[in-house]
Amino acid sequence: MQILARGNWSGAVGFILAAMGSAVGLGNIWRYPYITGQYGGAAFILLYIACVFAVGIPLLLAESLIGRKTQRNPVGAFRVLRPGSEWVVAGRLSVVSSFVILSYYAVVAGWVLHYVYLSLIKSFAGKSPQEIATLFTGMIASPWLQIFWLMVFMLLTILIISRGVSRGIEIGNKIMMPLLFALLVVLLLYAIQTDGAATGLEFLLRPQWQKLSPTAVLEALGQALFSLSLGMGIMITYGSYLSHQSNLVGCAFFVAIGDTLVAILAGFVVFPLVFSFGLEPSAGPGLIFQTLPIAFAQLPAGYWVSLAFFVLLGFAALTSSISLLEVVCAYFVDEQRWSRKKASWTLGIVIFLLGIPSAVGDDFLEFMDGLATNYLLPIGALLIALFTGWALTHDERREEFSAGESSAFRFASWSFLIRFVSPVALVLIFLHQLRLF
Ligand code: TRP
Repeated sequence: MQILARGNWSGAVGFILAAMGSAVGLGNIWRYPYITGQYGGAAFILLYIACVFAVGIPLLLAESLIGRKTQRNPVGAFRVLRPGSEWVVAGRLSVVSSFVILSYYAVVAGWVLHYVYLSLIKSFAGKSPQEIATLFTGMIASPWLQIFWLMVFMLLTILIISRGVSRGIEIGNKIMMPLLFALLVVLLLYAIQTDGAATGLEFLLRPQWQKLSPTAVLEALGQALFSLSLGMGIMITYGSYLSHQSNLVGCAFFVAIGDTLVAILAGFVVFPLVFSFGLEPSAGPGLIFQTLPIAFAQLPAGYWVSLAFFVLLGFAALTSSISLLEVVCAYFVDEQRWSRKKASWTLGIVIFLLGIPSAVGDDFLEFMDGLATNYLLPIGALLIALFTGWALTHDERREEFSAGESSAFRFASWSFLIRFVSPVALVLIFLHQLRLF
């Protein structure tokens, strides 16, 4: 039986933790706090929550329903549902996006591992802000150092994926996710006692409505897609390891709310530290690598705080990267009949090689990131919304939605959101990226 050979979650909890592990990543811990600061703190948070409910959850449900219904990777899923049609292109796009995203995501994750190492050997204590900044620029200037950590990170990812769905992905998430939450709570308790806590919290909680622009709305939407790992078949793949009785509506809410909560709480950790030392809140990509270590250098117990922070970030990155590698592996296992071992090692090594240009040249990393978040993900998400909302019939949608879920009102709301609201919102993001809107 092919379905048995593919593997399965041991239950809904396995799926929820894995989906949440995929969602909670670098996007939550450095990107979200920083753009929240840029776009007006609390006002942006409310906007973001609205996007998660209006577009994020409906799409998450659409993807996982397709996966659960077909028990296939993204390419196979479209093929099973609409044999011989062009929709299979949407699945192929997912596989391409996984290659692109993981190749540079793993480079940034490699930086995180290097910072775990720097924290471990007490590199920040007693250093001046300039010396700490040099640690970052020195790393960026050293291709071999980045390639080394890229390799270590990809090895960890491959080792987990080669063990399979329940023994690899599920166990990995069951270990790392609780630790991630525990570290987040400890850091939060620590951060809210620092001198900058009041300023930091005010920065995040006082709405500055005047900063909310149409750009902020689109930024919030794009961030919601990226943060929930949508638009490239991850939830199709993870959904395909679920049994038909599971209640997906409940799972989708749980994952989306958990992911959003982690993002908001990450802001509550980062900004009190930033304001305690009069640092720049909108430092962008350098915020966690250059700005925060300056705070760690001076904080009481800063050694432990920095270690906890970067280990947390490492777990977040690893639980996301395994989901990216799993999409390509599932494709080669289902469609090309490769063994899981062969697929994980071969594809992992290919992605390692694809990551080298991002490690060697800075601009290449930004190019790949732009390609993925501005084009591949919105197009992928749009295709999935159109497929679910318009290519599938009303009865097909209702039949799959109703497995494990009985509310007619929920079905009607989801149908409306996935048919009308999501496509319009995604087209707007895309036109905005092309500077046409
Ligand atoms: N969601 C993860 C984060 O917030 C990143 C990620 C993992 C992702 N898989 C993805 C983003 C798929 C887009 C698509 O860091």
